Amino acid sequence: MTQQDEGVFSARPDGSPPPEFARRRADAPLAPVTLPSGDEVTMAVRYADVHEVLTNPAFSREATLAPDAPRILPGEEFGEDPNALTNMDPPRHTRVRRIVTGIFSPRNVKAWHPKVLAITEHLTDGLVAQGTSADLISAFTVPLPIQIMCELLGVPPADREKFQTWTDMIISSTAFTVEERIAAAGEFSGYVRELIAARRGSEGDALIDALISAHDEGERLSEAELVHLTVMLIMAGYETTATVLARGVLSLLTTDQYRVLCAEPEIIPGAVEELLRYGMPSDGGLLRMATSDVRLPSGVVRAGQTVMPSMASANRDPEVFPDPERFDVRRAECPHLTFGQGPHYCAGANLARHELRLALETLTRRLPGLRLAVAADEVEWRSGLLLRAPLRLPVTW
Ligand code: HEM
Repeated sequence: MTQQDEGVFSARPDGSPPPEFARRRADAPLAPVTLPSGDEVTMAVRYADVHEVLTNPAFSREATLAPDAPRILPGEEFGEDPNALTNMDPPRHTRVRRIVTGIFSPRNVKAWHPKVLAITEHLTDGLVAQGTSADLISAFTVPLPIQIMCELLGVPPADREKFQTWTDMIISSTAFTVEERIAAAGEFSGYVRELIAARRGSEGDALIDALISAHDEGERLSEAELVHLTVMLIMAGYETTATVLARGVLSLLTTDQYRVLCAEPEIIPGAVEELLRYGMPSDGGLLRMATSDVRLPSGVVRAGQTVMPSMASANRDPEVFPDPERFDVRRAECPHLTFGQGPHYCAGANLARHELRLALETLTRRLPGLRLAVAADEVEWRSGLLLRAPLRLPVTW
């Protein structure tokens, strides 16, 4: 890996995007980057280019599964499964995607509100019961989305530590070996297969039952699609949300903008968008391969070339976000790309936004005196994972 690439993918003490992105945006908007696997791809860093890579149908996800195509991580990946929604191109993608977006519709998210609120309040009760200090990660930001996903999917909450371990292993860039990652993906899929078998015919009203009937009744989801989708919902449903929430609370506490939200809770929905923009959990998004020559705003990508769109960099592009390095809950326009864009736009975005909003509303209402219990530069960050998240967030109130 070159010096320059270490600048892109190495962990920073505060989890922020590498300063290298600013240089690339100015001088090298479509330059090569060496991935943790050692493979080289083109990295798109300007907002306009990233947006185009995500939305232009000439960029394929399916083509990135070819055996000789570049990979993000070394070795075989769970993410390489052709039955993964994220790896499909239309028309197969359109068919599976319709089922998923139906399930995560704004109407369903609204109907889940009481359950999401109850879990948020319960975890806050737990914080309060600890006295006047706690680790916000283990007591709130991680259990919150996991418990919500378990509750909605109909998965036993007692198994959540297993999901957490498997997920960490699957998305690990250096913390686990290739063999460990493959074993974790196999165990996770096996667990979900058993869960599905046990639920089949139970006529429950959880998400997993809706997914099973989408498979059983209309032949619309294959068994492999069903298993992969369920694993992905558990994984996608918590790790990203937990990371954005933890990074967001840290930004609020270190800039004193937590007090602003306590005083003006009505601005929380807008603040959630700024948390999402500023706290994009990973430096780069999933790879895309050009199926024909494509003219991007900053240059031409040739057929067969693989591109990594960096949403984290796009979110800090001064062409779109004035004073982009400033975290500002009052930012007027915030068209961030944290949920992606185009056909693969995050299917769980409605739910994630709802969870983030309720988490901030509940914390600011019940713990208005919340503050960091350590200096900001003493916060420890997780290492060896593709997501940039604090390891612990010691707080007091
Ligand atoms: C703050 C939290 C979240 C973030 C930042 C996030 C981010 C993303 C991004 C960037 C993509 C697009 C990947 C690409 O096009 O390369 C995506 C796709 C997806 N996300 Fe999320 N996500 C979050 C929460 C969730 C939740 C809560 C769920 C479900 C429970 C979910 C389910 C999915 C699914 C199923 C896809 C695949 C969509 C497709 O390929 O058509 N995500 N997410």
